[in-house]
Amino acid sequence: MGERPEDRVEVPAALASMRRYALDDALLLFDRRTGLTAVCDGPETRGLRVRTPRVVQFAITNACNLACAFCSRDAAAASGWTAADAFALLRDLAARGTLEVAFGGGEPLAFKGFAGLVQRLSEETPLAVSVTTNGALLSAAAVDALAPFVGQVRVSVYDDVDHRPALAALAARSVRFGVNWLVTPARLDAVEAFALGLYDLGCRDLLLLSYNGHDRALHLSRDDSDALARRVRGLALALRGRMTVKLDVCWGERMEAVPQLFGARACAAGREFVVVTSDRRVSACSFHHRSFAFADADDLLRVWHDERDALASPAEQPGCARAADYGLNALRRSLPQSG
Ligand SMILES: C[S@@+](CC[C@H](N)C(=O)[O-])C[C@H]1O[C@@H](n2cnc3c(N)ncnc32)[C@H](O)[C@@H]1O
Repeated sequence: MGERPEDRVEVPAALASMRRYALDDALLLFDRRTGLTAVCDGPETRGLRVRTPRVVQFAITNACNLACAFCSRDAAAASGWTAADAFALLRDLAARGTLEVAFGGGEPLAFKGFAGLVQRLSEETPLAVSVTTNGALLSAAAVDALAPFVGQVRVSVYDDVDHRPALAALAARSVRFGVNWLVTPARLDAVEAFALGLYDLGCRDLLLLSYNGHDRALHLSRDDSDALARRVRGLALALRGRMTVKLDVCWGERMEAVPQLFGARACAAGREFVVVTSDRRVSACSFHHRSFAFADADDLLRVWHDERDALASPAEQPGCARAADYGLNALRRSLPQSG
């Protein structure tokens, strides 16, 4: 690839080794080892344009060792990927500017050849590789195999898996890791105790997920959402400088009371990041009903460009921040709580 417009922008010497990604009229700099991200904008960055998705969320398999009732993936769906095909696609997207692949699924650690794929991506491409896992297969040996090559591991904590061995193995090997936790009405009162328990286990990064799907008992009412926003605000103050508490983008304006790093931003699904599915299609996010087949990296970028309206549309599943009232109107009519 020849010199790109973003390569010509002068940046402070301390940031010069970071990878460059063109935003609209701005330049994003990224260090895959630390996750450090910096945005530069000024006269020098005027005219830069986003040309690729920054992150590919890759559902490399739908197969999973767990069977969570709230998960919308069809665990029986076969994977259309081999490690070699996945590598070729990601290498080519990296060459066109993508910064990061975030593996999920299904359970990525259940995919044959997964550790080797992560190693190749780390050694042969500039991509940052992150993995979201339920942690049950994250033995000390599995962590040893991933540790030198992975940027970040996210462990989803579920009631039926003891997450402590996985977190201990990650902490012992100094792997950058965080925890994902789905906040449901039943878990609302446990948020602070859960976060403090994680802190004791060495976790410094907690992402609170909102539920997407048709089970109305798992959606927060408006009162619940307000209560969660207050709790998160208190937690963030109490843990300031010690642990980052993040909220996924699907919460939308329901978390208005929480200070936001980048201000209130629209959901970037389908633009800043895309999902590649186990059956070799591209979609805006894991919960979106629209997806498009593609052949290779250039074809994926063609879909990303040509189908941008479809990729920017709301998901039909209740819980989408792009939908009026998060698509919850129909569900709310029968919700027991106020709101
Ligand atoms: C589908 S899992 C796949 C990766 C891996 N098996 C795991 O459990 O982390 C990815 C993330 O999606 C979250 N998730 C699953 N179903 C969800 C739903 N219906 N709404 C919101 N998040 C969900 C999980 O909690 C997990 O953090």
